[in-house]
Amino acid sequence: MAPQRTSPSPAGQKMTIPISRPHLDQREERYLLEALRSTWISSTGPFVERFEEDLAAYLGLPHAVSTTNGTAALHLALATLGIGPGDEVLIPNLTFAATGNAVYMTGARPVLVDSRPGHWNLDPDSLAGAITPRCKALIVVHLLGHACPMEPILAIARRHGLLVVEDCAEALGCTDQGRRVGGFGHIGAFSFFANKVMTTGEGGACVTSDPALFERLQDLRAHGMARGRQYWHQFVGFNYRMTNLSAALGVAQLEKLDHMLQKRREVRRLYDRLLGSLPGIRINFEAPGQTIDWLYPLFLDQEALGLSRDQALASLREAGIDARPMFYPLHLMPPFAEAPRANGLGNSTRWGLSGLLLPLYPDMEPAQVEYVAGQVAALAAGA
Ligand SMILES: Cc1ncc(COP(=O)(O)O)c(C=O)c1O
Repeated sequence: MAPQRTSPSPAGQKMTIPISRPHLDQREERYLLEALRSTWISSTGPFVERFEEDLAAYLGLPHAVSTTNGTAALHLALATLGIGPGDEVLIPNLTFAATGNAVYMTGARPVLVDSRPGHWNLDPDSLAGAITPRCKALIVVHLLGHACPMEPILAIARRHGLLVVEDCAEALGCTDQGRRVGGFGHIGAFSFFANKVMTTGEGGACVTSDPALFERLQDLRAHGMARGRQYWHQFVGFNYRMTNLSAALGVAQLEKLDHMLQKRREVRRLYDRLLGSLPGIRINFEAPGQTIDWLYPLFLDQEALGLSRDQALASLREAGIDARPMFYPLHLMPPFAEAPRANGLGNSTRWGLSGLLLPLYPDMEPAQVEYVAGQVAALAAGA
């Protein structure tokens, strides 16, 4: 996505509204310049360690390992847990494809699991029914800033001896049972791409409470090189290290994460108020934990509206709004067409094919939200 700089136009005029836009100011500039002037611009440098410590502290966990991006974090997490060829990993059918791509990157196969009827996150019943003898792990995705309730998932994992990875790419800061997501499973993975609630440009991280996993994550991230013996490689590793430049952005962004989440909440509340009672449009979802606001999801009753999701998207784009489709259900796309799956993927298919993601970012002006909501209301009214 290439965020465009816009300002609200006078009433009635067309606006150009990006799907997302990072909140950057003098703080990022200062830390970035500090890193640049220090000449520590690769993965050695004080900001990397500081960012990892700050992130771990924010999540209430002992260890964080920064990475080049969220996909690398997922791959690193699975490789650290020993997932490889011949293994299967349960994943939701409704997620951004990187969740499944990371499984393939290890040589393992994903097993696709359905969403709950009333919510887009993983359905524990579908999960339990999809477990095969080859399943060694599962990835829970906290999609769209809503925590997937972990207790039933962890109970199933314990019963079947499954390792648990949490994909928290879209969920930094949201909680389940009062605890921030990321620390429920063996390893949590985050993304700091520019459209996420905080960004390092490209970037990601793994978090864990287990000191042995922490060491393995660090070693695999850095070429599998031995500690204390330079250029001696213990095993095949990756280079997934975050740069000091990215980490400088990360330190700045974490310092104001609460403020940015609050600004996102205000945008979300205005959308809720403007879109809450439109016929044929569903926006409100019961969420047991404390949610955070990423992009703004809504789901269309395409039959009642006499309007397909793609027609709605085309109209919004015509109006200058960079709305996006919800993620396509994985089983419909070529890389996942042959993947083993739960018996029935109806819920994830419905969510995936009827959903839209509207722009949401901290500096979105009320006039911009009103403009987007007005266009959606016009669609609902058949205008
Ligand atoms: C659910 C989910 N998982 C994984 C990723 C991958 O993160 P990245 O783009 O940083 O590789 C993303 C986001 O892009 C995501 O939304």
